[in-house]
Amino acid sequence: MVYVLEPLPYAYNALEPYFDEQTMKLHHDKHHQTYVDKLNAALEVHKDLQNKKVEDLLKDLNKIPESSKTAVKNHGGGHFNHSFWWPMLKKDVQISGDIQKNINASFGNFEDFKKKFTDSALGLFGSGWTWLVFSNGKLEIINTPNQDCPITLGKVPVLGVDMWEHSMYLRYNNRKGEYLGAFFKVINWDKVNEHLKHAMK
Ligand SMILES: [Fe+2]
Repeated sequence: MVYVLEPLPYAYNALEPYFDEQTMKLHHDKHHQTYVDKLNAALEVHKDLQNKKVEDLLKDLNKIPESSKTAVKNHGGGHFNHSFWWPMLKKDVQISGDIQKNINASFGNFEDFKKKFTDSALGLFGSGWTWLVFSNGKLEIINTPNQDCPITLGKVPVLGVDMWEHSMYLRYNNRKGEYLGAFFKVINWDKVNEHLKHAMK
């Protein structure tokens, strides 16, 4: 199997004015495509691994031959994280259902959750992601560096934000707080509920 980049599930300008069209185009067509291409290149010599879903590769990196482990971690992680990212974004979706209940139960209320998540993302040094994960029966906020994936840590992601400069720089420059404010306007809570349902199984 050769890993492929799925088309963006909406128009490049669908998230304006929060996430701009040019960033979405570059981020999806160039950055994500590069992770896919480099993952395929890394597995060219390991035909047996090409049949696996990318999440299965990331679940146990120790099963990846040493010569390709870092490439799979970086580019497989980049492919998984970005495949998770695009459908998790949509404008005008209100939080509801189990994710709302679980956020309130874990963090007190939505505003406290938003602050804690935002503070965690602002505290991330360098490039990486901030995640809301389901782990050991509860929700938890974690940061991962680079393209490291929560799956590798045994945690199931339900929500995540890309804190690489390529995700924000054209519109927000280094104003990460503004970028995070915009991110909270484009969370597809219906998709987050789907992830939570899957995680709680
Ligand atoms: Fe990205």
